[in-house]
Amino acid sequence: MYLQKRNRILRTNPSIRSLVAETTLSANDFIVPLFIDEGENVKTEIASMPNYYRNSLDITIKEVKELWNMGLKSVLIFVKAKDETKDNTGKEAWNKNGLMQRSIKAIKNACPEMLVMTDVALDPYSSYGHDGIVKDGEIVNDETVEALVKMSISHAEAGADFVAPSDMMDGRIGAIRKGLEENNFTKVGIMAYSAKYASCFYGPFRDALDSAPGFGDKKTYQMNYANRIEAIKETLQDIEEGADIVMVKPALAYLDIIREVKNAVHVPVSAYNISGEYAMIKAAAKMGWIDENKAILETLTAIKRAGADLIATYFAKEAVRLLL
Ligand code: PBG
Repeated sequence: MYLQKRNRILRTNPSIRSLVAETTLSANDFIVPLFIDEGENVKTEIASMPNYYRNSLDITIKEVKELWNMGLKSVLIFVKAKDETKDNTGKEAWNKNGLMQRSIKAIKNACPEMLVMTDVALDPYSSYGHDGIVKDGEIVNDETVEALVKMSISHAEAGADFVAPSDMMDGRIGAIRKGLEENNFTKVGIMAYSAKYASCFYGPFRDALDSAPGFGDKKTYQMNYANRIEAIKETLQDIEEGADIVMVKPALAYLDIIREVKNAVHVPVSAYNISGEYAMIKAAAKMGWIDENKAILETLTAIKRAGADLIATYFAKEAVRLLL
């Protein structure tokens, strides 16, 4: 058979395959989400996230040092607020001595070069488990934005490198940027969860922080998964308002959105490989139905190939080990 072109030449062996690979992963791609708890020497496995833990601050510090030594350069932190601190204003969110603020300081102290990114949304602090303040059964926008600004400034005061608003209120990026500027936090970045969809795949995360909404769902603020063009509108608006990095979330069922956003913007795009996506791989692997290590690398490579410059993932550590 005479063929002018044999595409399989470039797939002949591992050497040529790696030379022509269009996408490669490294530790520089990952943001490591961390769940932090009160107490000392507390390490609680999250039931729906096997081998992922909610740790007290002392254990978290050790973990952060280990991550840094593995070449990982950023953590995204979430704290589990005590029930008695929760109310409808979310005021624990900007408590100077709150667990979040103490955690930021302690991590920056222990590992100054590690980039500390913080989740900004009221749900862990809300007695209703919603990302905003509730009035007459509604999640009110403008008052929530004021609360998010206070929250962001308190994270900046504690030493956060980036604040990451995950709430999907209107106008919060502009308001947070203005708040940071007015308080002289001109070096603090904003990673905006710009295209964040109302997704059933957040379930395990809400177990981790005990933050499931007490009534209704999040569909009046998080996006409808049927929509694509709206993701571009949201993202461009966040950039205009001052976002340094934009995010698409979840990742796997939204690879088309990641690509579309990547093609539309000139800022780094991150994607959040969320808790339910982690849980699915862990569960199938436990059943012996897929090869976990291969699934991790294939998934993360696909998210990057789709256009993500950064990936927040619970698999960061495992991925780095696999890449060595
Ligand atoms: C809080 C927040 C959520 C996640 C990140 N920040 C949950 C939600 O919006 O309900 C989800 C992360 C994950 O599932 O891994 N606003």
